[in-house]
Amino acid sequence: MPLRDRHLLGIEDLDLDEIELILNTSRSFKEISTRSIKKVPTLRGKSLINLFYEPSTRTRSSFEIAAKRLGADSININISTSSVSKGESLIDTGKNLQSMNPDIIAIRHSAAGAPHLLAQYCKSTSIVNAGDGMHEHPTQALLDVLTILDHKKSIEGLHVAIVGDIAHSRVARSNVLLLVKMGAHVCVCGPPTLIPMEFESYGVKVTYHIKEALQGADVVMMLRTQKERQRDVFYPSVKEYFALYGLNMEKMKWAKRSAIVMHPGPINRGIEIDPELAEAGFSVIFEQVTNGVAVRMAVLYLLLGASEEADL
Ligand code: CP
Repeated sequence: MPLRDRHLLGIEDLDLDEIELILNTSRSFKEISTRSIKKVPTLRGKSLINLFYEPSTRTRSSFEIAAKRLGADSININISTSSVSKGESLIDTGKNLQSMNPDIIAIRHSAAGAPHLLAQYCKSTSIVNAGDGMHEHPTQALLDVLTILDHKKSIEGLHVAIVGDIAHSRVARSNVLLLVKMGAHVCVCGPPTLIPMEFESYGVKVTYHIKEALQGADVVMMLRTQKERQRDVFYPSVKEYFALYGLNMEKMKWAKRSAIVMHPGPINRGIEIDPELAEAGFSVIFEQVTNGVAVRMAVLYLLLGASEEADL
């Protein structure tokens, strides 16, 4: 069964069957990355273009690795040396890239809705949202849920605390949409200046006190303070932010003993998380990165090759 839409633009568009399909397909692809020869011909002859207007380490490289492990070709557009620097618009860039007949364009852009716009103009290419402004980052949420399910039986009934710069985080929105859809109890926490009112309408609990967020939590998801998107001063100092919202061993005692700690990366060690906590036994931060490859393999496969016999 392929995905209903030819594009993956946001968690909002996915139903529960499609989410299960992506997660199950990701699980079946995980094993390929553990082989000595990490390559199958499943998407041979297909091509992916990574069109990243914003910096990325994890997402861009994992899309590239995912494509290559499935036998597809992948091309990275370097925005700073592309004709974008001469003023070429997003639509013209997309239409020109589409003219070379790629099968998928994965786009990251600072403007919310950029992937949706591209999808309107690029009818013969699948568009994947690799992060649009402060809106959505769907493959991040999918890899996060895959990682949670490696440690917990089910998402339904799970208590998930999402702590930090909620306002500027596309990861927060995509995770809230996905986790609530799958039946989790989600609590978002951060300074009042960094939690938009709209989050209450998503069916999550909102608190400004980290103790309240962490008490009884099965999953603690820490978010990066996104300096590059903060045009105002949202908290008095880094020291105060860390004291009130930064995760350390003391605060982790409020969560369940079996709780796991997540972070989408990149980590600001010493701002939202104690410098050593990322390597603690309860941290699954690097497992998230590993699962990112599997989820992106699944997304590429389901957008392009699901109707064909899988050759694994
Ligand atoms: N999590 C995430 O999107 O990381 P990158 O910005 O490095 O892609």
